[in-house]
Amino acid sequence: MTNLQPTYLLELEHVTKRFGEHLVVDDLSMQVANGEIVALLGRTGAGKSTVMSLLMGAISCDSGSVRVAGFDPSRDHDTLRGKMAVSFQTDRLLPWRTARENVELGMLILKRPKKEARAKAVEWLARVKLVDADDKYVHELSGGMRQRVSLARALAVDPELVLLDESFSQLDHATSKVLRRDFSQVVREFRKTCVFVTHRIEDAMDIADRVYVLVEPAKICLELKITPEDRLDESRKQVIYDQIADAIGGNDEA
Ligand SMILES: Nc1ncnc2c1ncn2[C@@H]1O[C@H](COP(=O)(O)OP(=O)(O)O)[C@@H](O)[C@H]1O
Ligand SMILES: [Mg+2]
Repeated sequence: MTNLQPTYLLELEHVTKRFGEHLVVDDLSMQVANGEIVALLGRTGAGKSTVMSLLMGAISCDSGSVRVAGFDPSRDHDTLRGKMAVSFQTDRLLPWRTARENVELGMLILKRPKKEARAKAVEWLARVKLVDADDKYVHELSGGMRQRVSLARALAVDPELVLLDESFSQLDHATSKVLRRDFSQVVREFRKTCVFVTHRIEDAMDIADRVYVLVEPAKICLELKITPEDRLDESRKQVIYDQIADAIGGNDEA
């Protein structure tokens, strides 16, 4: 019997994208299985955000194919509605809404009942460990708290795929580390699939099951797995760190 289920939740095959004459994605192929957390790591200008836009269907590729759950995100908007959620470096929260109201918004847009949206918003804010701040407005929240709200908003719609673009990298290292830990715990607990973009090696080291290192123009120069055992072993971590730093051509703060 033929298995009609796609093997991968997300699949890019020989994807090319130009902006005018400028080649930004060059023959990129990658796959992400259900439940995986995958990092796209590379320097500024490598083309990471462009790959995200392709995954979201905000832009379409010039050649090759992009599939999410077997569908083309640039065409099958209706089918994929609510199946993908995104969160960005800048939190994109609405200042005139409270933390809870911002989380509700994603669900209200998807026409979920108001009562359900409220209950889920409260639930997810607790899961991403935002404490005593549901009724605070955006200006009353720190950067880390805002990112928690943004992540709760993404997760609360119960998407199959969560896309993050530099969600941790605007924060100071300590805040970022705690947020990464809390986020990856909740993503694993709820078996979400996540693709996240970062230019910081430690983001990837901390939470990714697999890392694609991209160099301009969005070409994979290294792909590697990171296991929980790797994370517990300082010398193994260092070897992986050095391997990635080598591939992107220097450390991650450059
Ligand atoms: N809409 C666009 N029009 C023209 N050039 C773009 C556009 N979006 C991105 N680029 C260019 O594509 C390259 C990759 O950008 P981007 O995907 O944002 O990289 P990254 O997220 O890795 O920093 C950059 O040179 C950028 O200037
Ligand atoms: Mg970017």
